[in-house]
Amino acid sequence: MASTKHEIVEKNIGWLTVGILIAISFATLVEIVPLFFQKSVTEPHPNLRPLTALQMEGRDIYIREGCHVCHTQMIRPLRAETARYGHYSVAGESVYDHPFLWGSKRTGPDLARVGGRYSDEWHIEHLINPRNLVPESIMPSYPWLAERVLDGKKTGKKLATFQRFGVPYSQEDIDNAGAEVAGKTEMEALVAYLQQLGHAFNERN
Ligand code: HEC
Repeated sequence: MASTKHEIVEKNIGWLTVGILIAISFATLVEIVPLFFQKSVTEPHPNLRPLTALQMEGRDIYIREGCHVCHTQMIRPLRAETARYGHYSVAGESVYDHPFLWGSKRTGPDLARVGGRYSDEWHIEHLINPRNLVPESIMPSYPWLAERVLDGKKTGKKLATFQRFGVPYSQEDIDNAGAEVAGKTEMEALVAYLQQLGHAFNERN
């Protein structure tokens, strides 16, 4: 019996590999390409505000201290999550976040909407020593944040970089950024960052 074209592909590992690669590449394109054009994914949420200069410095401290290694910023659309943390995360909230800090592991609670849930004083006390407020906490202490002072030398450049990624900062925002943060402590910056988390959905921040 003459072999069909399909049999040739199935019996020849080289052709089979090529065929599989074509199939997977096509399927991937079909999944990914539409996301670049879908407004709900690419457009900022209507309530989304760019980070202030101080919050931007706080974000960098959050990354430097590895907060994202223990904390996610991604509430999944599951009842148990929304009941605890609030409305599930939507893509439009992360449009100004480069790179996004969704995280993948929760040693501590999700922080996507933690802004406004506690006072600034609570956060400061908690960051200096979490066990002062939550006796069983395994979160590390970050006492040096209260001592280290920002000089603001690079803040303008950070805003300018985000502007290139499409975050709507004006030239004025960029020019004033350094002066806005100079003299503030790292603690003030980090708390300012935490307090705006989830602001697009929260009424309280
Ligand atoms: C080793 C893992 C770990 C790291 C790193 C970590 N945390 Fe935590 N975090 C926890 C745990 C566990 C809790 C829950 C107990 C508590 O409230 O202290 C928590 C709680 C919190 C809370 C309270 C959340 C809520 O809804 O009650 C905030 C805010 C917080 N962390 C911020 C931070 C920040 C900011 C950093 C980085 C400077 C950080 N965490 C680093 C583990 C961690």
